[in-house]
This record gives sequence, C-alpha cells and structure tokens, in this order.
Amino acid sequence: MSAIKAEGVSKSFGKRVVLEDINLEVGGGDLFAIIGPSGAGKTTLLRILCGLQPPDSGSVAVLGERLSYGKGANLTLRRRMSFIAQKPIAFRETVRENVAYPLSARGIEGGKEVVDRALEQVRLLGLAGNPGATLSGGEMQRMAFARATVYGPEVLILDEFTAHLDPQNIKLLEDALVSYQKEKGATIVLVTHNLFQAKRLAKTTAFMLDGAVVERGETSRIFNSPTDERTGAYVRGEMVY
Ligand SMILES: Nc1ncnc2c1ncn2[C@@H]1O[C@H](COP(=O)(O)OP(=O)(O)OP(=O)(O)O)[C@@H](O)[C@H]1O
Ligand SMILES: [Mg+2]
Repeated sequence: MSAIKAEGVSKSFGKRVVLEDINLEVGGGDLFAIIGPSGAGKTTLLRILCGLQPPDSGSVAVLGERLSYGKGANLTLRRRMSFIAQKPIAFRETVRENVAYPLSARGIEGGKEVVDRALEQVRLLGLAGNPGATLSGGEMQRMAFARATVYGPEVLILDEFTAHLDPQNIKLLEDALVSYQKEKGATIVLVTHNLFQAKRLAKTTAFMLDGAVVERGETSRIFNSPTDERTGAYVRGEMVY
C-alpha cells in the first residue's frame, strides 16, 4: 500500500502556476527523494503533502486518510507525521525544551530518557541547556532532526535537512536518518539539492521541473538511465537554470 498518494495536485500563487497536476505515490517504508532545480515547486509540494498548505485542486492521502487542511484537521494522523522545514527555527526556549516539545504536545510523559537519546544521537547533549535560538545553522538542523524524530513518526518529510552543513554533519544526520528508518520502518520523503545524497540514501527518486514530476523510479535507474532527456541533463549537471 502507498503511504502517501497525491492525485491531481495543482497550486498557484497569484498568476504563477507552481504545481500542475501532480500525481505521486510513495510506497510504505520507502525512502523517496525529490530532486530538481530551485523554484521547481518542491517545498510547496512537501507542505501540501504534510497538510500545512491546501492545494487549489486535487487531493492527498497519507496512511490511507485523506487530508482536509482545516485548523485541527487530521489531528491523529498529523501526530504520526513529522516535517523538517527548509529553514528550521526554535519553537521553545532551550534546546532540550525544543526536542521535548513534540512529546508534551502529544501528552507523552516521562520522556527524559527518550529526549536524552535523541539529543545524544545528534551530539547536542552538551548544549541541551542553551537557548535554541543561539544555535549555529548546523546545530539548528541537528536539533530540528532530533525534534522531528523524538516521538517516532511513521512518516517523515524532510526539506533540505542537511543544507549548508559540512561533510561531517551531513554524515551524522544521514546516519541518524538511516538508523531511524531501520528501527521504525518509517516512510521518508526527502527533498535535496545534493544529488550524491539522493544516490546514497534513496530507494526511489523523482525529478521535478517547473511544477511537474518529469520522471520517477528506482534511484539507480533515474541516475544511470533516465528516460527523459531533461532528467538526464539535470543529473549530469548539464541543466543550466
Ligand atoms: N506563499 C507563496 N507566495 C507566493 N509565491 C510562492 C509562495 N510559496 C512559494 N512561492 C513561489 O513558488 C515557486 C516554487 O517555490 P518552492 O519553494 O516550492 O520551490 P523549491 O523547488 O522548493 O525551490 P528551492 O530548491 O529553491 O527550495 C517559487 O517561484 C516561489 O517564489
Ligand atoms: Mg525549497
């Protein structure tokens, strides 16, 4: 069964059509990468897939339930999902409070050990008492990862979760993601500009251009023998945009 199914999703901002008739299925337990140039509509699509923003037309179902986008809609379902935004921010005061927040929001008690483990995994235990807002860009992304995974969501949606990080931090977060998926069998959708990251991590990859999914398939096929010329140009680094 597919964990995420988008049918006929379109979205415009003013006169600009940002997504046009997107049909996309993500299989349960897949690690699914979305690649494509800046402005292709990747973030807009992710926000629609996780219920943060309604499409103008079309529909999305996650774990078999149709998203309805109103305030407080799909509450039980939304608590089984998590999203890391392209520019993560602190929601609460300290780093520890930020990571613990999703647990208290879900009424899960006694989470100290769980929070410690999540902080330890992203090497932030030493900064647990610091204000979240003072973290460096890389530390903020590590905090966002710990906050997004601490309660064990079945669907994890990540927008450039390692953007602007050095290789060591990229490896730390990629390893954390792989072990999270192994442990939980979660479905993961990952938007990335880092083509090597898509190759390293994703089972399936989709290429987006100008608000459309040009091609999707097994990651090795998308990179080694794409059927669409535009996908080929993009993965070979020949697409100038
Ligand atoms: N709320 C909004 N109002 C107006 N225009 C928007 C809004 N959100 C996105 N857009 C526009 O929609 C287009 C697609 O944006 P989106 O953020 O989805 O692209 P992206 O593929 O994620 O790009 P990047 O790789 O740079 O993150 C852009 O031209 C952007 O300016
Ligand atoms: Mg984006």
